[in-house]
Amino acid sequence: MKKPLTSANVLDSLRIVKDPDLHRDIVSLNFIKDLTIRGTAVSLSIELTTPACPVRDELKAQAVQAVRDQIEGVGEISVTMTSNVRASAPSQHVNLLPGVKNTIAVASGKGGVGKSTVAVNLAVALALDGATVGLIDADIYGPSIPLMMGINERPQLAGQKLIPLTAHGVRVMSIGFLVDASQAVIWRGPMVSGALKQFMSDVEWGKLDYLLFDLPPGTGDIHLTLVQSIPLSGAVVVTTPQDISLADARKAHAMFVKVNVPVLGLIENMSYYVCPQCGRREDIFATGGGQKAAAQLGSPYLGGIPIYTPIRVGGDTGRPIVVSEPDAEQSRMIRTIARTMAAQLSIQYMSGGLKPPTIEI
Ligand SMILES: Nc1ncnc2c1ncn2[C@@H]1O[C@H](COP(=O)(O)OP(=O)(O)O)[C@@H](O)[C@H]1O
Ligand SMILES: [Mg+2]
Repeated sequence: MKKPLTSANVLDSLRIVKDPDLHRDIVSLNFIKDLTIRGTAVSLSIELTTPACPVRDELKAQAVQAVRDQIEGVGEISVTMTSNVRASAPSQHVNLLPGVKNTIAVASGKGGVGKSTVAVNLAVALALDGATVGLIDADIYGPSIPLMMGINERPQLAGQKLIPLTAHGVRVMSIGFLVDASQAVIWRGPMVSGALKQFMSDVEWGKLDYLLFDLPPGTGDIHLTLVQSIPLSGAVVVTTPQDISLADARKAHAMFVKVNVPVLGLIENMSYYVCPQCGRREDIFATGGGQKAAAQLGSPYLGGIPIYTPIRVGGDTGRPIVVSEPDAEQSRMIRTIARTMAAQLSIQYMSGGLKPPTIEI
């Protein structure tokens, strides 16, 4: 039996539509906005927690279907998808990063696993989905973000603050913009933390949905101090599938657990290689390790990225693969990982699981 066309009934009909990540219906999640009925036409908005929603189109289709199936004599149904990224821990961010809603560390135990490549592509992927995104190159000893984002300028000062440089829709700050890389390598721990704090307090970030940090590889004292000096909403750990990298990824995971930063998930980079000539797949660094490690650690597995020459070329030429080859399968994989990561942040937020570390400045 269909129900008459009233706002209350339309709202009620939408209760069968569930957000698969948040495991709740879109009505109780308070996602339905601007519900109006004109004659037989129904229009409403669904306000998601991120523009980078992995199931945006499915939710829209399900909402239309739900109303069509349950409401009597309904004509046109128009559903607009919007988003309002929630701030994960506003009170913690107030002093240091007032306009920044979420901060995410991209970490790895081991160097050379593609952490910077992943950080750059995730940042650009979120921006392509319509989010406002910043990227801090916190890898003071090996800043590669300027090259990977194709930025050669120096940031300008506005009053007391540095203006981040923008590339591919992402606001970027790197020590590489300011000092010669050979100078930074002799810095000691406290200087590294000091520089990072300045990247937060002395840079005009404006309003950001997501600020990503490309952390230096490792899990030693410097890293512990670093992660404690950033008010982090969450962290992702990048690994290759081989044992030696996974062992270090586990250490990175343990470090975040220790400082009470939610691990949003593991990303397996260099998962496999497909020969462009013959199409044969080669598991250069073994396979499935990232997924197994994630399961053991009780963290989500966000996905794998294969070895693909244009990903390396994109890094060297400052045009990340998600913009240089937007339709490539590898770009789609990265964009799905970015959306899954954003969804994990929303889950953390909704479940009240976000407890950023206490910041000592
Ligand atoms: N999936 C991939 N396919 C091809 N090359 C990659 C991939 N991921 C990273 N690379 C390349 O591997 C090298 C190391 O990556 P990088 O992001 O600098 O690692 P890290 O930041 O962990 O030290 C770079 O030359 C990069 O372009
Ligand atoms: Mg790097």
